[in-house]
Amino acid sequence: MSPVSSRMQQSTCIVTIDNPPVNVISAAVRQGLSDALDAAEAVGATRIVLIGAGKTFCAGADAKEFDLPPVPPHLPDVLARLERLPTIAAINGVALGGGLELALACRGRIAAPGAALGLPEVTLGVVPGAGGTQRLPRLTGVAEAAALISEGRRFKAAEGAALGVIDEVAEDPLAAAIALPDSVFAAMRPACARPDPAPDPDAIAAARAKAAKRARGQTAPLAALDLVAESATLPLNNGLARERAMFLELRKQPQARALRHLFFAERAAQARAKRFAAPPRELRSAVVVGGGTMGAGIAYALDGIGIAVTLVETGEEAAARARQNIAGLFDAAVARGKASAKQAAAGKARITVVTGYGDLPPADIAIEAVFEDLSVKREVFCALADALPDTAILATNTSYLDVNRIFEGIAAPERCLGLHFFSPAHLMKLLEVIRADTSSEATLASAFGLAARLRKVAVEAGVCDGFIGNRILTRYRQVCDVMLIEGALPWQVDAALTGFGMAMGPYAVQDLSGLDIAYANRQRKNLRETPDIRYIPIADRMVEELKRLGRKTGAGWYDYGDGAPEPGAGVADLVAACSHEAGIPRRAFTDEDIRERAITAMIDEGLRVLDEGIARRPADIDLVLVHGYGFPRWRGGPMHVADAIGLPALQDRIESYAAADPLSWSVPPLLTRLIADGRSLADLDQEET
Ligand code: COA
Ligand code: NAD
Repeated sequence: MSPVSSRMQQSTCIVTIDNPPVNVISAAVRQGLSDALDAAEAVGATRIVLIGAGKTFCAGADAKEFDLPPVPPHLPDVLARLERLPTIAAINGVALGGGLELALACRGRIAAPGAALGLPEVTLGVVPGAGGTQRLPRLTGVAEAAALISEGRRFKAAEGAALGVIDEVAEDPLAAAIALPDSVFAAMRPACARPDPAPDPDAIAAARAKAAKRARGQTAPLAALDLVAESATLPLNNGLARERAMFLELRKQPQARALRHLFFAERAAQARAKRFAAPPRELRSAVVVGGGTMGAGIAYALDGIGIAVTLVETGEEAAARARQNIAGLFDAAVARGKASAKQAAAGKARITVVTGYGDLPPADIAIEAVFEDLSVKREVFCALADALPDTAILATNTSYLDVNRIFEGIAAPERCLGLHFFSPAHLMKLLEVIRADTSSEATLASAFGLAARLRKVAVEAGVCDGFIGNRILTRYRQVCDVMLIEGALPWQVDAALTGFGMAMGPYAVQDLSGLDIAYANRQRKNLRETPDIRYIPIADRMVEELKRLGRKTGAGWYDYGDGAPEPGAGVADLVAACSHEAGIPRRAFTDEDIRERAITAMIDEGLRVLDEGIARRPADIDLVLVHGYGFPRWRGGPMHVADAIGLPALQDRIESYAAADPLSWSVPPLLTRLIADGRSLADLDQEET
C-alpha cells in the first residue's frame, strides 16, 4: 500500500503522508506524492492540502537512503510539480529537512504551534537537497536563511511566522488550510513567484565566521552558505541545480558518512533503553553524596528535571561549600539568560544540603560523588544502605574504581550500579551506565530512563579500570607520553590533535583537570613497577619535581597568565632530560605521525574494550568519545575511523608500531578475527541492533 493517500473534500484534495514512525520521504513516499498530484490534477482540485499522519508532518529525507544511488522520482522533481499546483502545507508537527522543503515548495504554510521546523542537513554533513537553500531565502531574506541553514537550527511555528516562513499558526492546521478563504489563498505566492532576495554579503560573511568556529573542520555549513548567497544572484532553477549537485556530492563524503553513523548510533543507544527485561522505575527523589564539582552538578541537573534532591556532605564547612557550588550553577544560569533571578532563588532553596545520614527522606535513588577512594566510597555505600529503603537504587560516580568492590556486602546489591557523569555534569551529554556483576535489569532500565529525562546519551559499560572512556583515554595519554620521550613536545602533540579536530589536546586537558588527579590514579596502579607497561616518567616528574599541577596553580604543561597559555617554563627541558636519561635519541615527529599514532591508540584500546565485552557495540565507543571526550563528531568516533582506514591497513600500522615498541603495542585479537572473517566494525553494529 502506498504511504501516501488522498481524499477529496469538495474541491479540496487532502494528501496525507503516512510513513511511520516519522514520515520520512522514502522512494515510496516520493512516488506516492507524485501519484497523488497526478490524481488531484486529474480531478481538477482547486486546493491541495499536504499533511502528515500522526504527530509528525515529515522528518525529511530517509537518511538510510543516502548510502544508495538516488532512486526516481527525485524529490526536487516532485517539488517542482508541487510548486506549480495550488498547494498548501498543513504542518501538524515536526517538519525538518526535506519535510520543510516540501512545505517551502507549497504556496502557503499553516503550522501547529508546537511544530518544530528547520533545515538540519548540515548536522548530517550535507546541504539541503530539495530547494531549502534557494526557497528559504526567498521567504526570509538571505541573512535569516544563512543563519538557520548553516547552523541547522530548529525553530517553532511562532518564530517561523515572524520570519515569514509560516503564513498562519493554528491549533488545527488541516481545518485552517481547508477553511482558508479563496481570496487569501489566491494571494499566496510560491517561492518561485516571489522576487529574488537581495544579496547580503555581510550576513554571509558573519555566518561564515560563526560556522568556522562552531563547526571547525566541517565542509557542509560553508557549502550551504555559498548556495544561500547564490540564491540572490542566480535564477531559481540554476540555484536549485547547483544545490542538488552539491547535496549529491556531499552525501558521499566521509564527513557525511561519519555524521550519519552517529545519528543512527544515538538512536540505537536510545533504543537500548527499551530492551531491558524489566521496566524502569519512576524516580522522584534523590540523595546526592558529596557536593564538590560533580555532586553539585549532578544535584543541579536532577533538580532541573523535577527530582527532589537532598545532598549529603561531611560537615558544616563542606556543606557551606556545597551550597556555594550549587548557588554558582544557578547564578551561571541567570547570567546565561537560562533562568530568572526568582527561579534561581527558588532552585537554591529547593536543594537541601545536610550533614550526615540521620534525616534522609526515603529517596528513590542515591548517587555518590565523594573522593575517588575505595574505602571512603564503601563507607558511604554502607551508610546509604542503612539510611534508605532496600528498594532505593544506589549509584557511584567513580571514574576508575571497581564498582563491584564498592558494593561488596551491601543488602539487595541488584540495585547498585555506576552512573559515570562527566564534568560539568549538568552540561555534558554523556552518561556511562556501569553494569556491576549484581546490577539488575530493572536498575539498568531505570538508569537509562533517568538519562533520557536528563537528555543525556546513555551508554552501557562493563566493569574495568576506567570503563569505556577513561580506559581509552589512559591508553591515548600513555601513547602521547611515549611520543614525548621519543621527540615530540606537549604543545606539538596538542596542536596536531586539535588539528585533527579534537576539542582540546591531551596536555591542555590534563592542565584543566589537574595533573595531581591523573598522578594519584597512576600511583594507585603503581605503574612505575608494572613490568608489562612502558613507564614514561615525565608526567610524574612534572608533579613531583616541578610541582606543576595545571591551571589551578597557573602552571602545568603550559604557563597560564593573562594572555594565551604559553609552553610551560622548564617543561621542554624536563622532557629532554627524561629522553636523555632513558637513552632515547629524540627525533622529529610530523603532525601526521602524532595523529596517526594517538588515534590508533584509541582504536586499539577500543577493540580490546569491545572484545572484553566492556562495550556492547563499536558505535557505543564512538558515542562515548564524541560526547564525553571532545572527539570530532564529523569524524564519527574512533571505531568509525577504524573502518574508514580499513581493518587490514590498521593491522599493518599496529604491526609496525609493535615492531618498534612491543611493550606499548600488539595487534588486538579482535582485529585479527574481523579481518579473517571479512567483517567490519559497522557489521558488528548491525549484528547488535
Ligand atoms: N531518516 C531515517 N530515519 C529517521 C530519520 C531520517 N531523517 N529521522 C528519524 N528517523 C528514524 C530514527 O532512526 C528512529 O528509528 P528507529 O525507531 O528504528 O530507531 C525513528 O525514526 C524515530 O526517531 P527518533 O529520533 O527516535 O524519534 P523522536 O520522536 O525522538 O524524534 C525527530 C523525531 C524527527 C525529531 C528526530 O528523529 C529527528 O530529528 N530526525 C532527523 C531529522 C533530520 O535531520 N532530517 C533531515 C534529513 S536530511
Ligand atoms: P571533589 O573533590 O570536587 O568533591 C568531592 C566532595 O565529596 C567534597 O565536597 C567532599 O567534601 C565530599 N565528601 C568527601 N567524603 C565524603 C563523605 N564521606 N560523605 C559526604 N561527602 C564527602 O571531587 P569531584 O571532582 O566532584 O569527584 C567526585 C567523584 O566523581 C570522584 O569519584 C571522581 O572520580 C568522580 N568524577 C569526577 C569527574 C571530574 O571531572 N571531576 C568526572 C567524573 C567522575
